[in-house]
Amino acid sequence: MEPILTQDGTPTLFHPGYGETYHPRQGALLQARRLYLEKTLTHLHPAPRVLEVGLGLLVNFRTTLESALQRGVYLRYVAVEKEPLPKELLAQIPLPLPRAEAVMAGILKAWPLERFQGPWGELRILFGKVEEVGLPQNWATAVYLDPFSPRVNPEPWSFPVLQKLCRALRRGGRLATYSAQGAFRRALKEAGFALHRVPAEGKREWTVGIALKAPPG
Ligand SMILES: C[S@@+](CC[C@H](N)C(=O)[O-])C[C@H]1O[C@@H](n2cnc3c(N)ncnc32)[C@H](O)[C@@H]1O
Repeated sequence: MEPILTQDGTPTLFHPGYGETYHPRQGALLQARRLYLEKTLTHLHPAPRVLEVGLGLLVNFRTTLESALQRGVYLRYVAVEKEPLPKELLAQIPLPLPRAEAVMAGILKAWPLERFQGPWGELRILFGKVEEVGLPQNWATAVYLDPFSPRVNPEPWSFPVLQKLCRALRRGGRLATYSAQGAFRRALKEAGFALHRVPAEGKREWTVGIALKAPPG
């Protein structure tokens, strides 16, 4: 796999097995910021706890970490990844995020591990398929749902997984994803989310789901 530049100048990779790139051509960093970070309101959260499906090249992680470091907040990040990439490849994906890149250099030295920790926060990686791994319950302030597309990678978009992600979120927590597929959106509503169609950059719509849960007590 060779790095390919997206239109905002940040790199991605093409996965031959899925026949798709890890990020949209409009921009890897652009999508991480405008969709995952901002549409979940994680860029404003004083104690963000993010659950990601598909850690990939750690673009969303590093973008979220940069925001947390700029604001001086502690980041807790749990990511599920079934096919972790080798460190030699990850080292070829630099991002223009100076604070996060300093942390990333340390992460790469020890990569892959199940837990990385520092004054910046913590990154826990659940190596496995999201359909199979145990997730924290009632924990996340945000879910970044970022597998390959439902057409080529259907399992992480399925109803049982969406139910599981709803249980992992705190009440009012937000799930964001680039997909606007109809079957996925219907399953999202059925799994306990309020569905929001949000205007996207470089395509028509993204999807945000807000976890509707009974109030405590
Ligand atoms: C579009 S890429 C993610 C890009 C990543 N979020 C980033 O910021 O660079 C999709 C990722 O989902 C992972 N994936 C696909 N199916 C999965 C599954 N069932 N469970 C966990 N991870 C999965 C792939 O291995 C791949 O790394």
